[in-house]
Amino acid sequence: MKGQPCRIVFPRVSDALDQDEEWIFVERGGRMQKIRLHNYGDIYRIPGLYEELFYKKLGCDSPNVVCGLLDRAMKRHGGPDSLRALDFGAGNGMVSEKLSELRHCEFLVGIDILKEAKEAAERDRPGLYDHYWVMDLARLDEFNRKRLQSYRFNTLVTVAALGFNDIPTRAFLNAFNLVPKGSWIAFNIRDKFLREDDRSGYRNALDRLQDSCFQILEQTDYCHRRSITGRKLCYRAIVGQKTAEADIEDLFEKRCVRST
Ligand SMILES: C[S@@+](CC[C@H](N)C(=O)[O-])C[C@H]1O[C@@H](n2cnc3c(N)ncnc32)[C@H](O)[C@@H]1O
Repeated sequence: MKGQPCRIVFPRVSDALDQDEEWIFVERGGRMQKIRLHNYGDIYRIPGLYEELFYKKLGCDSPNVVCGLLDRAMKRHGGPDSLRALDFGAGNGMVSEKLSELRHCEFLVGIDILKEAKEAAERDRPGLYDHYWVMDLARLDEFNRKRLQSYRFNTLVTVAALGFNDIPTRAFLNAFNLVPKGSWIAFNIRDKFLREDDRSGYRNALDRLQDSCFQILEQTDYCHRRSITGRKLCYRAIVGQKTAEADIEDLFEKRCVRST
């Protein structure tokens, strides 16, 4: 990837930093910049930094694991010949790139809340997406709902984007309802958001989805990446099929799900 070369410097920090508190120094053109790892806008602005940091230095393997699991599930359980996929929390396009290597993709749409993500995807992987929308699905209006539903998706993929003040449960559930019944859903999530003491709302949301409208077909626990101090960050990749519409308002009204 072209651009001014940069050097990543890891700070000496204790193990106490949570995943969304981690930060690094980036040296570029004689300047040192402190960047928080979850400050994706700053990272996407520097060509190649996202790949160098998360994939080369910290060993992130999630696009491979989640897309590989989806491919395996589709082979085992009879998936579509051709994908019409919504890549939600698409970033600079690494997930869709992997998906296109594994399966025939006739139509790919990316959605991210950051304009820097769309700009980076267009810069780093031009022509990958049929459409890339910068949008907040937690506040989905009727115009965009209808437009996105008209794309007749058969697959929803969300990698490394749930929890940690990234994609909130309401936005994920809205994305779930943008794809029709029978669609394939593939995502990953940090192990702590699946535990009984989870405060993010995801544990409850996923339990309720499984009770009513989502059948898990394949899942695996794995190391998403290392922390900057070398700790393994454990995630679960999940692939399944949507069996009915989610009654989102009912879930929130009955306080089954928190909206954070
Ligand atoms: C760690 S990146 C993952 C990007 C890509 N899926 C990948 O695996 O390389 C998380 C992405 O989620 C996006 N994101 C965070 N909150 C979001 C939201 N509420 N709606 C849409 N995207 C969001 C971020 O902007 C960021 O691009």
